[in-house]
Parts: sequence; C-alpha cells; structure tokens
Amino acid sequence: MAATVTSMLNAIKDIGREPASGGYYRPIWSDAELTLREWFTGEAQARGLDVHTDQNGIMWAWAGTPGPNALVTGSHLDSVPGGGNFDGPLGVASALAAYDVMKERGVDFTAPGARPFVIAVFPEEEGSRFGQACLGSKLINGTADIAATMNLKDLDGITFAEAAKANGYDPTRFGRDEEMIGLMGSFIELHVEQGRGLIDLGQPVALAESIIASGRWTMRVEGEGNHAGATPLSLRRDPMVAAASVVRAVRDAAAATDGGVATVGRLLAHPGGVNVIPSHVDMTLDCRHPEKDVVDGIIEAIRAAGEAAAAEEGCTFTLEGSGKPTLYFDSDLTSRMQAVLPEAPVLPSGAGHDAGILAKDLPTGMLFVRNPSGISHSPEEYAEDADADFGAIALADVLTAELTV
Ligand code: GLV
Ligand code: MN
Ligand code: MN
Ligand code: MN
Repeated sequence: MAATVTSMLNAIKDIGREPASGGYYRPIWSDAELTLREWFTGEAQARGLDVHTDQNGIMWAWAGTPGPNALVTGSHLDSVPGGGNFDGPLGVASALAAYDVMKERGVDFTAPGARPFVIAVFPEEEGSRFGQACLGSKLINGTADIAATMNLKDLDGITFAEAAKANGYDPTRFGRDEEMIGLMGSFIELHVEQGRGLIDLGQPVALAESIIASGRWTMRVEGEGNHAGATPLSLRRDPMVAAASVVRAVRDAAAATDGGVATVGRLLAHPGGVNVIPSHVDMTLDCRHPEKDVVDGIIEAIRAAGEAAAAEEGCTFTLEGSGKPTLYFDSDLTSRMQAVLPEAPVLPSGAGHDAGILAKDLPTGMLFVRNPSGISHSPEEYAEDADADFGAIALADVLTAELTV
C-alpha cells in the first residue's frame, strides 16, 4: 500500500481536536471540516483523481471519466461533538488506500469499457451542526425536505441556507440531483465498527446486513420562568424538575424492552441563568431497536410519562419527530461481498450511515473494521494499524470484484 490507512489518519489527527477533551468536533463548514476537505482534495489529486464538489456539498474524486453505473466508495469527514478520528475518516482513508492497492495490482481505471470508479465524501453525516443526520445523502437523493432543510438552524441561530451561502453554495440548488444519482451504480462504505461485535467474534472485518430502526425527536417542557430566590417552591412551575423525570422515563421506557436504546444527548435550559427558574427546557431524544414497532412503543411510553411528569409540576410536555424502519442492505451485493470475504461475519449496525440513505436509489453495502475499544462517538474509538490495513485490502478485494459487475 503506497500510504497506510493509519498514516493518512495520523496526518489529520490534530484537525478539529479539542485539546481539553481530546475529542474532535468537525461539523459542516467549520474550519476543521473545510481543512479536511482540503486534505482529501490533496490526497485525491496526488493520486491523479479528478475532484469536484457538487451543489449539495458532496465531494467526488473520479478515477477516469465520470460515467453511469459508477462504483462508489467513501464515507464522511464530519464528526459529532467530542468524537473520534475514525468514525467517517477511516472509510475515506480506506477508500484512498484501496485505490492504491488496486492500482498496484494493475487495475486500469481508464481502460475503454472500464466501470467508472469514484470516491465520495458526504457532508454533515452526523447532523451535528444542523440536527439532520446523513444530510448530504438525504439531499442528493431527495429524502430531505428542502424548505425545512434551508431553515434548519445551528446553535448560533445561523440557518443552513445562510451557512451554505457563506460557503459559496447556491441555496436554490440543493436537493435531488438526478444526474449524480443516475451515475451512481452502487455504493460500498467502509466504517469503523461502533460496538463490540468484532471484538467478541475475534475477527478484523465484518459485513453489515442492516441498520436498525431509529429516529430523532425533540422534547420540550414548558413551565414558568421566575426568580430563583424570591419564588417559593409551592409557587413554581419548574420545567427542569419535570425534565429530570423525563430523562429517567427515557431510560425506563427503553429498559422495559428487549434491546431497545434511548438517549437524551442534549438538554438546554432557557434562558440558562444560575439564578433563574427556566421558562422551558429543550431536550433531544435518539431511540433505536431492530424493530420499528418497539421504537414506536418506547416513544409513546416516553410521551405518556413526560405528559404526566409535566402535569405534576404545572408544566406542559411536547415530543416531536419521527423514526424510520430497519434498513436491509442489498442482498445481492452483500452476497457477492461475502463470496470475496468468506471469513467475515455479517452484523447489524446500531449506527446510521449514508449507505442506508442511498439504499433507496441504488444497491449499497458496508464493511466494518474492528474497534478494540468498542466505544464510538468518543475519542476512544480506533482501529489497530493492522486491522485498518486489512480493512483497506478487504475493501480493495471487494471493489476489484465489483469493477466487473
Ligand atoms: C451516526 O453515527 C448515528 O448517529 O447513527
Ligand atoms: Mn459514521
Ligand atoms: Mn457517527
Ligand atoms: Mn428557547
């Protein structure tokens, strides 16, 4: 391999890293994310790939001439707050390394009749700035509601449309891109594993069979803002007190199921003064289970518990959002990948991925690389050098076979 996966990840290990926590924050169009885009452009151009960024902010690095039935690989470079250097970048670095392996093996990407090949980088996969996960893939295939997307606000109140414009994009051009979707023949995404599946199985690489049902909701408890010193407890309508019960109810509702998970990842008290009883508290909710009915049941249990907890404190509770069912990756593609990698186990994914969104329009499949910490969305996530290189070669093997499809 010309450049190992680890050497590429080491080259970006200081970008967007918060010194205090060691975690990374690389939301869309942040300095860190823009620097990562430059890094990717440099790596791709050094290999002679033709790089361009489309109207939805997706980066494409073509080997040879763009054309239909393109074999696409890649992942994302953005991160959650406090994230690691592998969730996303491992797939991008492995795509570049797999390209190197295929070149070394003599694959001629520009030969007449060769299947077009392209490495893609999808923006805002984590939805960590504007709240919408897999935003790049949802834009290109029309899954995202455009008007709603343009009005999404970050925590500073900047809308997606404003941020896009400030970064040179035309806000009227976001949305389903028939031309690019028409060129994509299939997509194979390599990703660091985000759980313990491969640790337990003692294997370096797995195939993904599904993405479990999941969704994102927002919850608000509305009470009455008031003075923290002058307001007796008996006269309070304190939404934070009810919010505490809601957080507990989220855990209890998930715990009452077999394998369901539910998370309050953000809780914001408004206006947020030390000596102010909040007027309202906003919370996020993430909930997942292999069956959507179970997710729906957890949400309804949380709704009932939240309404009761709010009423007890003289507050109101609202819960908004929606979930999506379990996504199964293309079985023909996954079978062919399995034929190339017969040792690789097949695992479900508890995390969402652009490959899941794009599955609506084209065959998609995924490879996971062992993460010895079993921890993700944290700087603890990683892959051993040998596993990362093994993963890139596995990806090269799969891609080489797919070039003939
Ligand atoms: C993406 O990492 C997710 O939240 O599943
Ligand atoms: Mn990811
Ligand atoms: Mn992630
Ligand atoms: Mn508010």
